[in-house]
Order: sequence, then structure tokens, then C-alpha cells
Amino acid sequence: MKSVGLLLALLWYQTAGSGDPNQNQSCSHALELQLDHSAVIRCVERRFLSVTVDASLASEEKFMSLLSSPKIRTLAKALTPAFLRFGGTRQDFMVFTPQRLHQDSATTADPSCDLRLPSWLEDRLKKSWTQQQLVLMREDLQRKFSRVKFTEYTVDLLHSFTNCSGMDLIFGLNALLRTADNTWNSSNARSLLQYCESRRYRMSWELGNEPNSYEKKAGVRVDGHQLGQDFTRLREMMSQSKLYHDAGLYGPDIGQPRDHRADLLQGFLQSGAEAVDACTWHHYYVNGRDASVEDFLDPEVLDSLILKSTEVLKEVQLVSPQKPVWLGETSSAYGGGAAGLSDTFVAGFMWLDKLGLAARLGLDVVMRQVFIGSGSYHLVDENLDPLPVRGLHYTLYTLHTAHYTLHSTHCTLHTTHYTTLHYYTP
Ligand SMILES: *[C@@H]1O[C@H](CO)[C@@H](O)[C@H](O)[C@H]1NC(C)=O
Ligand SMILES: *[C@@H]1O[C@H](CO)[C@@H](O)[C@H](O)[C@H]1NC(C)=O
Ligand SMILES: *[C@@H]1O[C@H](CO)[C@@H](O)[C@H](O)[C@H]1NC(C)=O
Repeated sequence: MKSVGLLLALLWYQTAGSGDPNQNQSCSHALELQLDHSAVIRCVERRFLSVTVDASLASEEKFMSLLSSPKIRTLAKALTPAFLRFGGTRQDFMVFTPQRLHQDSATTADPSCDLRLPSWLEDRLKKSWTQQQLVLMREDLQRKFSRVKFTEYTVDLLHSFTNCSGMDLIFGLNALLRTADNTWNSSNARSLLQYCESRRYRMSWELGNEPNSYEKKAGVRVDGHQLGQDFTRLREMMSQSKLYHDAGLYGPDIGQPRDHRADLLQGFLQSGAEAVDACTWHHYYVNGRDASVEDFLDPEVLDSLILKSTEVLKEVQLVSPQKPVWLGETSSAYGGGAAGLSDTFVAGFMWLDKLGLAARLGLDVVMRQVFIGSGSYHLVDENLDPLPVRGLHYTLYTLHTAHYTLHSTHCTLHTTHYTTLHYYTP
């Protein structure tokens, strides 16, 4: 219980510091509690607390320039060490064209990290990004996704963003490029890997996003066994590359267990477990379109993560006992989040509970959907200013590193936070 107190204390400090000076003092007793280091429940990956950039940001390539906003870069730096996963629904509609489309010097990715997005351009982009989000939401609702062409520019920006902020880039490849016999057509991925290798971009890879819903999104059915073979194919390709032969490959980024998804995971593991360094799955508690504030505070809703995690962990341990399991994309509510909830302080309880539970259950990495992207579960608002949930995320990060310096074993505090949130809920 002592460690719980420290967390509460820091959260209180965080909110009190930025909020109304006349606010009620009733939380202040929490400040008196101390942290207990004596019992480590679980050790997690150094980059346990990670973030995503949704591939929808590349729906029009110009929006990728937002990643060179000085504000975004400063905020990103504060969240390291972390993975930055670039992926999501639109990754399976993205096709790489090896050419440089944007020649203007203002937006070329600069390896020296000094390049700043001019503020007039940032303002213009922020405005049109707000418009673009409406278009993206409509596509999501109708499940009609247009093919997105991207060039070297997108990759250059992702690389310079992660490299300059100290994050580790994971790029999600398109698994919906398929041949007539429904195997993965790797030719586009090959040209992307070749380009990245020529630029000496150190990064790791994923293949496909939520393959369980390919039928709904694209009328294509891919079973687990085939998907595992596709990953094996990608691993072969990587092993032929000087730069990527020992790079990370993660997958299958499957949705949480429900109906046939369990079969898909099982099939994948049988043919593809060897190919991946970690098994990734996605988790959301509720549907963003009808979620209520009560859902966000309901211990039963929060604990549903235990059931889903246990199912996935059991499945993985059965086939590949030592394989790390990651939450490769996760947030409060699916369908882009719940407006007015996912982007407010109340979502912090879900987030903290998720991190605590994930660590306790043995999930090695948790990737927050999204650092920036469409929807309402982002960590920064339309003006690229941090939202309250990011404050909590940052507080946790601070705890994470504080503990880090105390223990060389990469054990984090998240392990003991689990009881905290139930403490708060009615
Ligand atoms: C805190 O809130 C209670 C109940 O609303 C109120 O009676 C009390 O005066 C408040 N205390 C402070 C320090 O504002
Ligand atoms: C950034 O790139 C340089 C050059 O490739 C490399 O030496 C450095 O380790 C990279 N930093 C990060 C944080 O990836
Ligand atoms: C794979 O895709 C490439 C590029 O679109 C195409 O030229 C090639 O014919 C495809 N290969 C197969 C086997 O479908």
C-alpha cells in the first residue's frame, strides 16, 4: 500500500500544480505515504510505457510534417525510453512509392535534428488536420478505406522524429497486399526495406493491423496459419539484410480475444511464433460511441483486462512459452475513443489501472494509442498541447525512470500500482 501512496501523491501534486489554486485540499493526506521498494512483483521491458502514431496521419503525406513541430518533439523526448509504433487500420492500405515528393526545404527531414517546422506552416497544418479528422472518421464509420500512397518523405520524417527524440521506431507494413493464392505479396515491403537500409535507418517492423477484421475492412480473409507464414517470409527477407537481420519483428497485432480471433492467434502461433520477437495484441475496454463516465470508473470494466490478458497469455505460453507478450496498441475506448472522456482526466484512471495490471500480469510493453492521430484518445490536443492524460503518463514515466536509477534490473513501479485505481472508484 505504501507505493500506492506515492503514486497518489504525485498525481495530486501534478493536478494541484496546474489546477485551480482554491481547490479542495481533501487529497493532501495522500502526500504522507512512502514508497516501498522491498518487494518487486514483476520486471518489465525498459520501454514498457510506449506510444503509437496512427497511420492515419499519413493519409495525406503533408500531415507527417506535424512530427517536426518543436512542441511535439519536446513532448516526445520527455516520454523516452519508449517505442514509437507507426500503424493502425490505414497501414494495411498504404503503398510505398520510392520517390521524393516534397522538395521544399521547409519540410525535408533533417538528420541533424535542428530543423524546425515554421510556425506559419504548423498553424496551417493544424487547421487542415482538424478538417481531415472528419474525413477519416467518416471512412471509419463506413469502413471504406482508400489506398494511401506514401513516399520516402513519410519514412524520413518518422525516422528523424524518433531518432531525434530518442524513441525506437516500429513501422507497420501492409499485410493486405496479397497474391492470387492469398499469400502476402512482399514486393512493396522489399522496396521499403531497401530504401530504409540505404538510409541506414535503424528500426523494427510489424506486419498487418488487426487481421481479424480484414474481412470487414477489405473483404479479404486471412487465416492464422497463413499469417504466420507471411511473417516467416518477412523474417527471411530481414535476415538477408545487413541492417535488419537482427532487427525486431512484432505481431500479429490481433484484436482482443472474441469469437474466431482465438483460432486466428492459435494458427498464427503455430506457423509464425518463431518469426516474431514478441506477440502483440490490442485492447480497448468499451465502444467509444456509447461509453459513459460510469464505464470509465467501473472496476468491473477495468478488470475485464485481466480476463482478456489471461486468455492471450495462456494461448501464447502453450505454443511459445518464453515469448514476450505486448499490448501493441491500446487505449480506453475503440472507434477512435469516447469524445469528452478519452481525452480528459477521467480516462487517467483506466490508463493507470491498465499499466498496473499489465505489468502485474506479465505484459512486457504497453503502447498507448495515440500520441498523435485522429480520434479522441490522443495525448495532445488539436493545438498540440498536452492533455491531462499525458500529464499522468508523464508522471508515470518519471516514476519509471526514478525507479530505474535505483535498480539495475529494469524493474518498474507499475507493478505495484494495481490497487490504486480501485481506491478512487466509488
Ligand atoms: C472542501 O470541500 C468541502 C465540501 O465541499 C467544504 O466543506 C470545505 O470547506 C472544502 N475545503 C476547502 C479547504 O476548500
Ligand atoms: C540516431 O541515428 C544515429 C545515426 O544513425 C545513431 O547513431 C543513433 O544511435 C540514433 N539514435 C537513436 C536514439 O536512435
Ligand atoms: C506483387 O506486387 C507487385 C507490385 O504491385 C506486382 O508487380 C507483382 O506481380 C505481384 N506479385 C504477385 C505474385 O502477385
